[in-house]
Amino acid sequence: MTSPEELLKLAVDVAEEAAQLIVERRRGTITVADTKSTVTDVVTAVDRESEELIRARVLRARPDDSFLGEEGDDVIGTSGVRWVVDPIDGTVNYLYDLPTYAVSIAVEYGGETVAGVVVDAPKGEVFTATLGGGAFADGKPIQVSGETDLAKALVGTGFGYDPARRQVQAEVIQHLITKVRDIRRIGVGAIDLCYVACGRLDAVYERGLNPWDYGAGALIAAEAGARIGGLNGAPVSPEMSIAATPALFEPFHALLAGADPLRA
Ligand code: IPD
Ligand code: CA
Ligand code: CA
Repeated sequence: MTSPEELLKLAVDVAEEAAQLIVERRRGTITVADTKSTVTDVVTAVDRESEELIRARVLRARPDDSFLGEEGDDVIGTSGVRWVVDPIDGTVNYLYDLPTYAVSIAVEYGGETVAGVVVDAPKGEVFTATLGGGAFADGKPIQVSGETDLAKALVGTGFGYDPARRQVQAEVIQHLITKVRDIRRIGVGAIDLCYVACGRLDAVYERGLNPWDYGAGALIAAEAGARIGGLNGAPVSPEMSIAATPALFEPFHALLAGADPLRA
């Protein structure tokens, strides 16, 4: 297997190229090309163009690898390495020209994430990590905040596109909001995790994130010292993802579990 550092180097090169493309395209008119699960779950032509660029660059360099992107067909390779890609995380922000959206690329070997990069495209900030190698923002080491008090925790989250699930997500927020400092809904799942990694948030949780949303960000958060997991000892999965400072994880998990978030 190629080293995680070499895989990360390719991931960063390709993610930066895609980030440049989407920022440049944003100077023109962005329209909805299609809807997916609901009328508000949108895809633009630039989501597809960004994914095609990433796929072509990765598979040209590494033709035996597998590729899972949010928008396109899966590619099954033979090398044991799989690229897990969100070509624009935060498409609704992108559509509305809100200045936070990202390209997220995770690289797995044998099913385990070994390298990850999240590029905040408008800002040009690059979050990276390799398994066991620490986490970085623009090449400088990052770590989670030292927050230990749930009442002072700034908590990020997101909402799915399905109305029934949103109803429950709103009830969960109602349960949490008086027990923590405040809630942030940034609109970019990968950035939420990177913000825990560098101490701009103390905890994040979301029901319904997909591997392309959390793949890179979960590694970056874990390598920055966050504790990550799902509910009741489960690993991070589309069912639930939680990342928090080590001291906050248990109390935050208890608070969240008390709201019965998996009802829908
Ligand atoms: C979405 C964003 C958002 C999260 C949603 C995701 P997309 O990804 O990460 O923050 O709350 O669950 O689907 O659709 O913009 O790639
Ligand atoms: Ca996404
Ligand atoms: Ca996306």
